[in-house]
Amino acid sequence: MELTRRNALGLLVSGGVAAATTALMGKDLTLLEEQAMPQTPTLPAFAPKPLPFDPTKLKGISEKLIASHHDNNYGGAVKNLNGVRNELAKATPDTPAFLVGGLRAKELVYANSMTLHEAYFGNLGGNGKADGSIAKAIASTWGSLGAWEQGLKVLGMSLAGGSGWAILDLHLPTGDLRLSWAGDHSQTLAAGLPLLVMDMYEHAYQMDYGAAAAKYIEAFFQNINWDEVNHRYERAQKALLVLKG
Ligand SMILES: [Fe+2]
Repeated sequence: MELTRRNALGLLVSGGVAAATTALMGKDLTLLEEQAMPQTPTLPAFAPKPLPFDPTKLKGISEKLIASHHDNNYGGAVKNLNGVRNELAKATPDTPAFLVGGLRAKELVYANSMTLHEAYFGNLGGNGKADGSIAKAIASTWGSLGAWEQGLKVLGMSLAGGSGWAILDLHLPTGDLRLSWAGDHSQTLAAGLPLLVMDMYEHAYQMDYGAAAAKYIEAFFQNINWDEVNHRYERAQKALLVLKG
């Protein structure tokens, strides 16, 4: 690299005082060049969260299935998210747009997969008995808990045999409770806070039920942790208050 007054001044401005001074004296130009290159930032890595319940205690969902789901599908998403983020950190204006676009698309898939899987595991491990403020809000919105339950089951079955998520969201722009369909990790409701998440990817039930998705959905409902759903609803209410200012 040819040292000029201009790039030496640039190094001084950017904090490379010692390197610039040394280089101006005709020494250690290699070191100067290395310090002038943009540095790839070090990103904090996400770590998988452990299952928040005893995997031997679920009703109708085996320990083998839930452990495989957690370790392979969720754990794989976290690992891939870290890898994609590290690759994106290396992107420069010279990186082809199709590479950046492909990495950003995968980043969204893995990030949403991580978030939704954590919400899914987090709303399992309960007794399945709906209660609290969320139960009242659901009944008020759908007319009855039963009507809402039927709606979520029908939504889940619309994804049976394929892949995706069935979600009860709080929609932040309106404050409404909504059921949302997500045919893939990257198709979740914009500005929706997930309160209850049901994984409808086949890996969530195939090991225990084969293609009988309806039986898995019944088992899912028996294990819903409504305390956690209530906790999320209360936090969502606080978020709404902040947004309303
Ligand atoms: Fe999953």
